[in-house]
Amino acid sequence: MTVHFIGAGPGAPDLLTLRGRDLIAASPVCLYAGSLIPRAVLDHCPPGARMVNSAPLTLDEIIAIIAEADAAGQDVARLHSGDLSVWSAMGEQIRRLKALGIGYTVTPGVPSFAAAAAALGTELTLPGLGQSLVLTRTPGRASAMPSGETLAAFGATGATLAVHLSIHNIAAVVDDLSPLYGAECPAAIVWRASWPDERIERGTLSTIAEQATGGPERTALILVGPVLGDADFTESQLYAPGYDRRFRPSSADSRFAETEE
Ligand SMILES: C[S@@+](CC[C@H](N)C(=O)[O-])C[C@H]1O[C@@H](n2cnc3c(N)ncnc32)[C@H](O)[C@@H]1O
Repeated sequence: MTVHFIGAGPGAPDLLTLRGRDLIAASPVCLYAGSLIPRAVLDHCPPGARMVNSAPLTLDEIIAIIAEADAAGQDVARLHSGDLSVWSAMGEQIRRLKALGIGYTVTPGVPSFAAAAAALGTELTLPGLGQSLVLTRTPGRASAMPSGETLAAFGATGATLAVHLSIHNIAAVVDDLSPLYGAECPAAIVWRASWPDERIERGTLSTIAEQATGGPERTALILVGPVLGDADFTESQLYAPGYDRRFRPSSADSRFAETEE
């Protein structure tokens, strides 16, 4: 018996991986994380599958369902939104599974920051403007932040920020970042990226909190950084004609000219 942790993607059912789909279809038990998993993803469960929404459950109750499936020799598809490597609570479940000697696999999913960037039609790393992306959040009721991980510390680098779990806290995000990026720094909010009711606001640090007023207080990503604006940037070397590289030697004298692969 195996527990398959599967990143179910940001919302659109066709952003599930083929591997994830096949594992769901092969698992008689499906534990899914509440409203962020679309119904159409659950439709991949086999007929008669036991489907349990884990949103109202405690960790003990989740592990009890997995232990029951283990006793019955039934694989479990464990679905979380987006990708599993960030804010999925997979770590604490894996720790319990290891203690119980239950095996598991991990199948990645499309993370919400990637879906938000796609919704904006934007690359989040542009030459000269931003070459780093920080995935972060502000403190929540249930989650304090480690002491060094402040918006001020990340903002001091000037990197592009993708601030999760913080739309209710947008005023504080703007207050912390404005002195570092400047009030006119481009910012955007994407609510429910890839869902049918996706909503986008583009603005600057001086306008974005006002633009968020009245918007939903959940499932939104706040993006901040010069890459979100229309500032000019240099082209990368990747496709520059004179740039000597393995896949496109720039001359017969290139050190790559004789390379086979
Ligand atoms: C518990 S975290 C899950 C993150 C997820 N594991 C991922 O890969 O993005 C939930 C937060 O992720 C962001 N999020 C998840 N899905 C989203 C979506 N479709 N559009 C915008 N933000 C989303 C929001 O910031 C939300 O508060």
